Amino acid sequence: MEFSQAVFLPCQSSQVTVVGAGNVGRTLAQRLLEKNLADVVLLDIVPGLPQGIALDLTSAQGVEEGDSRILGTNDYEDTAGSSIVVITAGLARKPGMTREDLLLTNAQIVADAARNALRYSPEALFIVITNPLDVMTYLTWQVTGLPPQRVMGMAGVLDSSRLKTFIALHLGASPADISTLVLGGHGDLMLPLPRYCTVGGVPITELLPPEVIERLVERTRNGGAEVVKLLQTGGAYYAPAASACVMVEAILRDQSRLLPAAAYLQGEYGLEDLFLGVPCRLGCRGVADILEVNLSEGELGALHQSAQSVRQNIGLAQRHLRL
Ligand code: 2OP
Repeated sequence: MEFSQAVFLPCQSSQVTVVGAGNVGRTLAQRLLEKNLADVVLLDIVPGLPQGIALDLTSAQGVEEGDSRILGTNDYEDTAGSSIVVITAGLARKPGMTREDLLLTNAQIVADAARNALRYSPEALFIVITNPLDVMTYLTWQVTGLPPQRVMGMAGVLDSSRLKTFIALHLGASPADISTLVLGGHGDLMLPLPRYCTVGGVPITELLPPEVIERLVERTRNGGAEVVKLLQTGGAYYAPAASACVMVEAILRDQSRLLPAAAYLQGEYGLEDLFLGVPCRLGCRGVADILEVNLSEGELGALHQSAQSVRQNIGLAQRHLRL
């Protein structure tokens, strides 16, 4: 028996490069493979590390019977032609550290990673995870010179997921019935918006007393630090990787998802020239547009306070990198 008319369509497989084979990067690679979303190139500077993880994940594909492939490499040339580059490289927090404490070290790492990845994937979209997230996303945009729609930061999906989880745990509800919204920087000044959070369509402000809401909001703000304190060896990675995977899927499948992400503001919310967490419509071209939700005076003030903190750190990083 033979194939009568062998028609080999041009290979359309999407390739996603994950820079950094630490816990976040390797977990994201695993999720991308298990969801059969794309072929993965996992890059790290440590010789053998991405190659070993890739070999192990490839062996897992033998069990999962997935056909997405993964290559582990220390050479950016192997990342060529990627549709999406996810930057996870950098130091993670230790107990007692803020995300901003990582600023100067991670600024150099992220700037180098962005430049090197762009060299081999000039058409790629960039998703940044490295902290401090909003600053690292701005630096990625600045050093690549890409249209801002093609650069975004993963944080809002993570923070919104944490708030959703804490509400679900408190109410004994399914996270599937909960929708939440968190804006602003990925740090202590993030802005969860309870009046835009619902359980089965009912605003939580009608379901929970203010003091409970405040407690859940505060736990969300400290969600990352809570994991760092428990682990003692680094930061969270399962929820960050799952959050980044949702964004990759929205782009690769052109889902037009409305997801919170660090996006470049050009007047939205009265802010410009910085990346900050806002509701974005994500599709194959990246950030298709930004949704401006109505904010009270207090909420807008809190968002601008968050923005001011991010802007200060952008300035520190730019001076450090002489940008
Ligand atoms: C977190 O919030 C790593 O920033 C990430 O856990």
